[in-house]
Amino acid sequence: MNSLFDPYDLGPVHLKSRIVMPPMTRTRTSEGALPTDGDVPNALMAKYYGQRAGAGLIISEVNDVDQSSHGYARIPGIHSETQKQGWRVVTDEVHRQGGTIFMQLWHVGRLAHSSILPNGQTPVGVTGERAEGSEVFAHGADGRLRFMPVEAPRALATDEVAAMVETFAKAAANAREAGFDGVEIHAANGYLIEQFMNSVLNTRTDRYGGGDMEDRTRFLMEVVDAVVAEFGPGRIGVRLSPFGKYGSMPSDPLTEETFLYVVQQLGQRGVAYVHLLYELLPDGNMESAEFKPRHLDHALLAKARAAFPGAFIWCGGFTDREQAQASLDTGLVDLIAFGRPYIANPDLAQRLENGWPLAVADRSTYYTRDGEAGYTDFPAHSNDMANSSAA
Ligand SMILES: Cc1cc2nc3c(=O)[nH]c(=O)nc-3n(C[C@H](O)[C@H](O)[C@H](O)COP(=O)(O)O)c2cc1C
Repeated sequence: MNSLFDPYDLGPVHLKSRIVMPPMTRTRTSEGALPTDGDVPNALMAKYYGQRAGAGLIISEVNDVDQSSHGYARIPGIHSETQKQGWRVVTDEVHRQGGTIFMQLWHVGRLAHSSILPNGQTPVGVTGERAEGSEVFAHGADGRLRFMPVEAPRALATDEVAAMVETFAKAAANAREAGFDGVEIHAANGYLIEQFMNSVLNTRTDRYGGGDMEDRTRFLMEVVDAVVAEFGPGRIGVRLSPFGKYGSMPSDPLTEETFLYVVQQLGQRGVAYVHLLYELLPDGNMESAEFKPRHLDHALLAKARAAFPGAFIWCGGFTDREQAQASLDTGLVDLIAFGRPYIANPDLAQRLENGWPLAVADRSTYYTRDGEAGYTDFPAHSNDMANSSAA
């Protein structure tokens, strides 16, 4: 049996363990000097990611592929030269610390608000249907940032969807130039790509929509092909959240069928891994303290395993070594992601390996802009011990 601490070869990328730090937005970017710079990664973020380089694989917080994909204030992007330079500082630091880092890319689609889009433009989506009940971090009428209900989008025109594929490819090229080891395409959690895949939401009648499986998944597949062409096979992952409700996603009777078709297609395209939201979150609330664990069905996961030759990552609700190892022992998964535990435990991999206790982060610091507080001020366990014995 493979141990959580054994190395893993993800295509051409060698990982020192099977422990993954999944994408987590932390809103610590700086404002660029020009409006077109977007929100820019900085030295503090380099410190944060460098501290966590002990993970087998870090997947960065999510990044805008262009200005129209800015659904939440303070989310970084990879569409401007300034952002590229900012991320280069981060990747250099992670590599200096012996880590491996992929960049997560998204377009938010209808989960957006005009107050943070360029020139107050209307958000775009697969159709004009609003994500009733969803909120994003945007400007209120008084100009202050707060959680605001999303607005009704306008449906992307067919040629705009095709152009968006090129936008993803350009973003991937920028990520490569910024020093990333690979990219993860965010096709989960109700954002644009998942909006296209959902058979209830996607009522388009062009080649990107309708009841046909191939049409509904065409946008994802074209993005994957374009990004693989840019980065090379083996360095691309795709995040999926079948049955997820985040972002007001409607229940889709074709979820299982779509999921199995998608993983099979991704396998044919040289995708290195599929990153699954394994634990289904109650009401789609990512930060909910009241988890009632409900996992993806293992019989379905076994079918997905048979359909996809690459690696699977499972994420959601993993908090200790035994639970993660038990999942690896099913033989259905290759890598385990620990999200929230990585916030307060920069040396999580070492803590798990040595049986050291885990610190718990304060949720109120997840998305602040208070410098180091709740971000880079969590000590590694050994320093912690050294400090307390010196005191
Ligand atoms: C503060 C925070 C920010 C997150 N940001 C992202 C993100 O940028 N992209 C993404 O795909 N998921 C994001 N997630 C979801 C996590 O990647 C992960 O799926 C979720 O926290 C469940 O895993 P866990 O139980 O190990 O924390 C975020 C979660 C948290 C707590």
